[in-house]
Amino acid sequence: MGRLFLVISSTKVTKMSEPSDQKLSNYLFPRWTNKLPAYFAIGGILFFCFIIFVFWYWLSPKNTDIGYAPKQPIPYSHKLHAGELGIDCRYCHINVERAAAATVPPTEICMNCHKIIKTDSPYIQKLKKSYDENKPMQWIKVHKLPDYVYFDHSRHVNSGVACVTCHGRIDQMAVVHQVQPLSMSWCLDCHRHPEKNLRPKSLITKMDWSTPDPLSLGKELRQANHINPREDCSTCHR
Ligand code: HEC
Ligand code: HEC
Ligand code: HEC
Ligand code: HEC
Ligand code: HEC
Repeated sequence: MGRLFLVISSTKVTKMSEPSDQKLSNYLFPRWTNKLPAYFAIGGILFFCFIIFVFWYWLSPKNTDIGYAPKQPIPYSHKLHAGELGIDCRYCHINVERAAAATVPPTEICMNCHKIIKTDSPYIQKLKKSYDENKPMQWIKVHKLPDYVYFDHSRHVNSGVACVTCHGRIDQMAVVHQVQPLSMSWCLDCHRHPEKNLRPKSLITKMDWSTPDPLSLGKELRQANHINPREDCSTCHR
C-alpha cells in the first residue's frame, strides 16, 4: 500500500510543477502529454489491484483446490467400489482409525478381488503388473495440506467426525475431487463448534446417514465423550 501512495503523491508533484515547465514543454510536446504520468499512474494502480485480486481471489486455496481431481494412473472408481459394491472405506484405508494418515491402499488389497475379477481388463493387467513387480501404483494425491500443518485422521474419526463431513459423497465420485477448502478458517470453524458434526463412532463411514436433530445429538455426544478440540496454534502448527 505504501507504494501506492508514493505513486499518487509523485503524480501530484508533477502537476504542481507544471507552470514552470510549461514553456519548455510547449515547444517539445503537445500539452496533453503533461497528463501522461497521471494516466500511467492510474493504469499502474488498476494493474496493481488486478494482480492482488488474482492472487487473493483466484489463487486462494478455496478456489484452486476445491474440485481438484487429477488423472490417476488407472481409472479406479469409488462410485463403483464404495457405492455400488458397498465396500467399507476402512477395507482399503486401513490406517484411518489408527494413525495420522488414512493412506491409499497397497495393490495387495485390490488383488484380493482382482486376482479373479476382470482379469481381461487392461487396467487390471496394469494392477497385476504392479503387484507382480512389487512396485506400488503411483496414485496422485488429491488432498494436500501444507507441510507446516499437522493433521491426524485417527483423532477425528475416533471422536465421531465422519469421512463425509470433510470429503463429501466419495461413494458417488467416479473420480475423487476435493469438496472442502481445507483452509485454516475451515478447520477452526469446526474446532469452535464441533457439535454440528459429531455422530456415533460406529457410523463414521456411512455416507448417507442423517438424523432429525443432529445438533442435540452432537451436544450429547460432545459432553459424554469430553470432546474439546483445541484452537491454540501449536495444535496444528508444531
Ligand atoms: C471386494 C472386491 C474388490 C476389491 C477389493 C477391488 N475391486 Fe475393483 N472391481 C470389483 C468389481 C466387482 C468390479 C466390476 C467388474 C465388472 O465390471 O464386471 C471392479 C472393477 C474395477 C475396475 C474397472 C475395470 C474395467 O476395465 O472395467 C478397476 C480399474 C478396478 N476395479 C480397480 C480396483 C483397484 C485399483 C482396487 C484396489 C484399490 C480394487 N479395484 C479393489 C471388485 C473389487
Ligand atoms: C477398494 C478400495 C477403496 C475403498 C473401499 C475406498 N477407497 Fe478411497 N481410495 C482408494 C484408492 C486406490 C485411492 C487413490 C486413487 C484415487 O484418488 O481415486 C483412494 C483415494 C481416496 C481419497 C483421496 C485421497 C487423496 O489423494 O487425497 C479419499 C478422500 C478417499 N479415498 C476416501 C474414501 C472414503 C470416504 C471411502 C468410503 C466411502 C473410500 N475412500 C473407500 C481405494 C479405496
Ligand atoms: C476432519 C476432517 C477429515 C475427516 C473426518 C476425514 N478426513 Fe481424510 N483427509 C483430511 C485432510 C485434511 C486430508 C489431507 C491430509 C494431509 O495432506 O496431510 C485428508 C486426506 C485423506 C486421504 C489421503 C491420504 C492421507 O492420509 O493423506 C485419504 C485416503 C483420506 N483422507 C480418507 C479418509 C477416510 C476414509 C475418512 C473416514 C474414515 C476420512 N478421510 C476422514 C480430512 C479429513
Ligand atoms: C468437522 C469438524 C472438524 C474439522 C473440519 C477439523 N477438526 Fe480437528 N478436531 C475435531 C475434533 C472433534 C477433534 C477431537 C478433539 C477432542 O478429542 O477433544 C479434533 C482434533 C484435532 C487435532 C488433535 C488435537 C490434539 O489434542 O492432539 C488436530 C491436530 C486437529 N484436530 C487438526 C485439524 C486440522 C489441521 C484441521 C483442518 C485441516 C481440522 N482439525 C479440521 C474436529 C474437526
Ligand atoms: C485447527 C488447526 C489450526 C489451528 C489451531 C491454527 N492453524 Fe494456522 N493453519 C491451519 C491450516 C490448515 C493452514 C493452511 C491453510 C491453507 O493451506 O490455506 C494454516 C495456515 C497458517 C498460516 C499460513 C498463512 C495462511 O493463511 O495461509 C499462518 C501464518 C498460520 N496458520 C498461523 C496460525 C496461528 C498464529 C495460529 C494460532 C492463533 C494458528 N495458525 C492456529 C490450521 C490451523
